Amino acid sequence: MNICIFASGTGSNFNAILKAVKSKKLNSKISLLISNNPECGAVNIAKNNNIDFENINRKKYSELTDKQYSGVFLKALKKHDIDLIVLCGYMKMIEKEVLKKYKNRIINIHPALLPSFGGKGMYGINVHKAVIAAGVKVSGITIHYVNENYDEGKIIFQKCCEVKEDDDEYSLQKRVLKLEHRYYWEVVRSLENLGF
Ligand code: GRF
Repeated sequence: MNICIFASGTGSNFNAILKAVKSKKLNSKISLLISNNPECGAVNIAKNNNIDFENINRKKYSELTDKQYSGVFLKALKKHDIDLIVLCGYMKMIEKEVLKKYKNRIINIHPALLPSFGGKGMYGINVHKAVIAAGVKVSGITIHYVNENYDEGKIIFQKCCEVKEDDDEYSLQKRVLKLEHRYYWEVVRSLENLGF
């Protein structure tokens, strides 16, 4: 498969998947990174590894209609013959036409057990804060297909971890991130096996 990563931040999940590609645990190739933020860590990872990068954000294309703006993504995806889109901390909604074209071929990772602790505003450290505040004893990761609503697509995989009595949001984030890095590429591999 040709994979396109969408990322807006640090890119540690991008890096973990890239490691799996490099060590041949995955047969796929990461052909493209799309980011709305040209300054983010994920862009550096792409540059350091000779992965093509496209900076696409609404401000840059403010004169375009929504449909035309979707076209900018579709053109880049087509150019690289992309089979699967893997969201790694991408902070924007996926454009409608892209969702249509890549139905069931866009996946995301969420740092909690959906359908709890998801939806608008539930990203980054906010998720772990909410988990601690709720007093639940387990958290974890959810890997799911992406649809038009935040965090609501069909769940592919979940793994849980303990929330410890003395955890704060940062210690919990660290534990959850370990699971993300451990399992995201495995889910990509299971999709490879489906023969995308
Ligand atoms: C991760 O916690 C992921 O679950 C969420 O965004 C964060 C991205 O982290 N969707 P990174 O940029 O991969 O380090």
